[in-house]
Amino acid sequence: MSDRLKIAVLISGSGSNLQAIIDAIQKDNIPCDIQLVVSNQALAYGLKRAEYANLKTKIIDHTSFPDRLTFDQAIGDAIDRAGAELVVLAGFMRIFSHWFVNRYRNKLINIHPSLLPKFKGLDTHVRTLSEGETHHGASVHLVTPELDTGPNILQGRITVHSNDTPESLQNRVHQIEHRIYPTVIQWLATHRLVINETSMVLDHQPLTTNGKVIDYEDI
Ligand code: GRF
Repeated sequence: MSDRLKIAVLISGSGSNLQAIIDAIQKDNIPCDIQLVVSNQALAYGLKRAEYANLKTKIIDHTSFPDRLTFDQAIGDAIDRAGAELVVLAGFMRIFSHWFVNRYRNKLINIHPSLLPKFKGLDTHVRTLSEGETHHGASVHLVTPELDTGPNILQGRITVHSNDTPESLQNRVHQIEHRIYPTVIQWLATHRLVINETSMVLDHQPLTTNGKVIDYEDI
């Protein structure tokens, strides 16, 4: 039996996080295989990135399903057929049913462009600036039924500069995302991070719900 971690990556758009994961698996020799890339958008550029990397792709268009549950079931069936053990949401712009989240309990991770629990939802860069925050960043977290509320695994934090705009923040946060998402996948694939029913343990130390925080001075 292979001891490589099998993952499915779900996208809706550009897929720059998918690209960062593809690149890191190769460059850092992470024992992980992307079994399937699923998009709900046929024109998502991330599908092209997946094809360039010779990955299996599947388009599951949410508009062709009568309701959220049947869409989620189709996604779940594709993930299971691909044999994925971990589901990685990378800019997947659909909210899942509780049924789906429970089916992949402790096996479903997401990346969000803010220091959760601050700024759940959309427009995180604009809101960070308008609230006068001194710090901003991105969070990789476990997905629970409520949107953007699962416990954090890893946060990458940057200082907000006085001349930052929503665009510059978006760009800087994207750079953080491209570092922290592959890092978490590496931790899981090498069993440095173990997620179970009651806790997440990194290097034999339980994580708090804030997760581990890394400050990036160079971004
Ligand atoms: C990222 O900002 C991520 O945090 C959010 O959606 C965006 C996806 O970007 N969930 P990309 O498609 O990976 O470039």
